[in-house]
Amino acid sequence: TACGGGEENESGEEEQQMLNNAGTLQVCSDVPYPPFEYYDGDGNVVGFDIDIAEALAESVDAELEIVQTGFEGIQSGVALDSNTCDLAISGMTITEARAGNMLFSEPYLDDNLGLLAATDAEVASLEDLDGLTVGVQSETTGATYAEEAGYEVREYTDSGLLIQGLESGQVDAAIGNISILGYQAGESDTAEFIEEIDTGEQLGIAAQSDNAELIDAVNEALAELESSGEMQELEDSWFRE
Ligand code: ARG
Repeated sequence: TACGGGEENESGEEEQQMLNNAGTLQVCSDVPYPPFEYYDGDGNVVGFDIDIAEALAESVDAELEIVQTGFEGIQSGVALDSNTCDLAISGMTITEARAGNMLFSEPYLDDNLGLLAATDAEVASLEDLDGLTVGVQSETTGATYAEEAGYEVREYTDSGLLIQGLESGQVDAAIGNISILGYQAGESDTAEFIEEIDTGEQLGIAAQSDNAELIDAVNEALAELESSGEMQELEDSWFRE
């Protein structure tokens, strides 16, 4: 590996190690993005993705270390390629463009886009966004959608700042994935969930393009979580009110 951690196999070639640092599974995640990954009152990172990351670490006999990483570095593949982490788990949508820069697991959640709006903006559907400002997190599928639709867009590098921007009236609405927007709507007195946008998005876990061994292990662990019913339990506990 780039860290020099490779072991020679019988034919004397360097063998790619599954983890950058033996015994530790380093996972890049862009916090906050509740309920996927966010800081609880004690400053611990918790959430749906974090529980999945814990299960994956256990399945490869490693300790979990969450590495807070900006979404730009995650979705471009740069964080993985620079060995900042072994895996990226960040509510990240599987896209063709991204798949050119990283290796995705099987999907672990369906997550369409949706529209959230300030209650006083009187937005009833996407059609009402003319003349309004729509907030998005940069480099996300929501950003791409809003830009392509031609809305007046304001970008935030961080999803926490996006929600603050909506609450403080910097933007009238936000476009992002329904599972975070639905959660935010439940937390907020000033914003409401307006409608789902059927983009057919699915979320995946990513590793470096050449680390098929790790992604095979991830897929096996995901299948196990599905068949044991644990995945359903996690969804119920993090996404339903
Ligand atoms: N699903 C969207 C995408 O992949 C947004 C993900 C943002 N994740 C985060 N942890 N901020 O583009």
